[in-house]
Amino acid sequence: MESSFDSCELYLSGVILVILDIKCVTISCVLLRILKEYAMSSLEERNEEIKDLYMKHINPSLMRLVAFMGYDFIEDHASGSHVFDIMGNDYIDCLGGFGVFALGHCHPKVVEAVKKQLNKMPLTSKELLVEPYARLAKKLSEISPGKLQYVFVCNSGTEAIEGALKLARIKTHKSGLIYTERAFHGKTMGSLSVTGREAFQLPFRPLIPGAKKVTFGDADELEASIDNDTAAFVVEPIQGEGGIHVPPDHYFPKVQKICREKGILLIIDEVQTGMGRTGKMFACEHWGIEPDIMTLAKALGGGVMPIGAIMGTASVWEVFEENPLIHSSTFGGNPLACAAALAAIEAIEEENLPEKAAIAGEKFLGALKVMVDAHPGIIKDIRGRGCLIGVEFADDDIGGLMISALAARKVLVAFTLNNHSVLRIEPALGISDDDIFRILQAIKESVIEVEAISESLSA
Ligand SMILES: Cc1ncc(COP(=O)(O)O)c(C=O)c1O
Repeated sequence: MESSFDSCELYLSGVILVILDIKCVTISCVLLRILKEYAMSSLEERNEEIKDLYMKHINPSLMRLVAFMGYDFIEDHASGSHVFDIMGNDYIDCLGGFGVFALGHCHPKVVEAVKKQLNKMPLTSKELLVEPYARLAKKLSEISPGKLQYVFVCNSGTEAIEGALKLARIKTHKSGLIYTERAFHGKTMGSLSVTGREAFQLPFRPLIPGAKKVTFGDADELEASIDNDTAAFVVEPIQGEGGIHVPPDHYFPKVQKICREKGILLIIDEVQTGMGRTGKMFACEHWGIEPDIMTLAKALGGGVMPIGAIMGTASVWEVFEENPLIHSSTFGGNPLACAAALAAIEAIEEENLPEKAAIAGEKFLGALKVMVDAHPGIIKDIRGRGCLIGVEFADDDIGGLMISALAARKVLVAFTLNNHSVLRIEPALGISDDDIFRILQAIKESVIEVEAISESLSA
């Protein structure tokens, strides 16, 4: 039988064990806290080091701008609509890499396709045939509008535009180009010559001669500006960087008719609007346009690989008959990028992303329009189609304050490149309702905060 001494000893040893345990737990907690603080401070140090490298070796002025907006943290990993920095902050991506992430970040199907190709053959000799290139070209010709049959794959949006302008010139034996006010087609010399923003063009003049600017949405002005030397009209179906402008419904059918009657080529730039972004696979389908040449990039690579593409009709492609190397690119058509694009198109189709973009867009537009009515001094206008939406603020300063306020709420946003008073909403097309709600809530809170600041400044 157990003596009372024995049971007392047992009880005491139990108490001692509990105390020791508590001590152990406390010590572990303290140790953990010290380790965590150490890890955080080393992450902060790493972050500071990278900021310093940006200042010293990349672009000090850009670094200052990023810091001013509150986005000066190293991006670490991402998935779907969420991006995480090294400090562990979770951001909702409402910018989508300026239109790249239609499928969100790291879409498994696209990542898998790229890994498979990577293990097999990342780049080819450029001498033999490239299977993913041929399959991508076929797929693009099947899903694209009108009679676009041929594809030249390059590496970026501006490269696609450069090629498109060259094709138009060589096809028509004319040099004149017409483009639209506020248009954005890229920043290399040819694309810049048809990009409608003085601030970007001015320091680089003279640009390529023979480029004329007309008002976006005014078909009569286009008609009046065509002359005997006009090769092509280059236009975005919905202007993106110009501040998200949707043209009136009568515009494009008239543009198409004018281009055909006057014998000039119609180049539709779908670099930002393509791949389901506006609720159709290609935005020009909203108006039944049949381009002679169409350019793609950004989301074509499924958010995994950089890629651009020029598409053209059989008639345009005749220009390669005389010299098949009249336009070429070392990395263009590489199998990694083509495999990514093929997988991306399949995923867009399988997941009905254009339809989802249209539905998400309606949710954003509906809620944002209510905010315009409630805060007319801050928000001037809301416009867009699908998941390409612009929120126009009273001026650039309010736009800047809004971006900082949203950054503080861990929402990634940016203004449009040619209009800094317009904030773009350009999330993944399959964005969840929870994330839409979180973004709208953050915009609402930010508007209230910025309204209070601007009222206190004007008081
Ligand atoms: C409509 C359009 N075209 C061309 C470009 C240029 O693309 P990239 O930046 O890939 O050169 C852009 C970039 O934003 C764009 O929006």
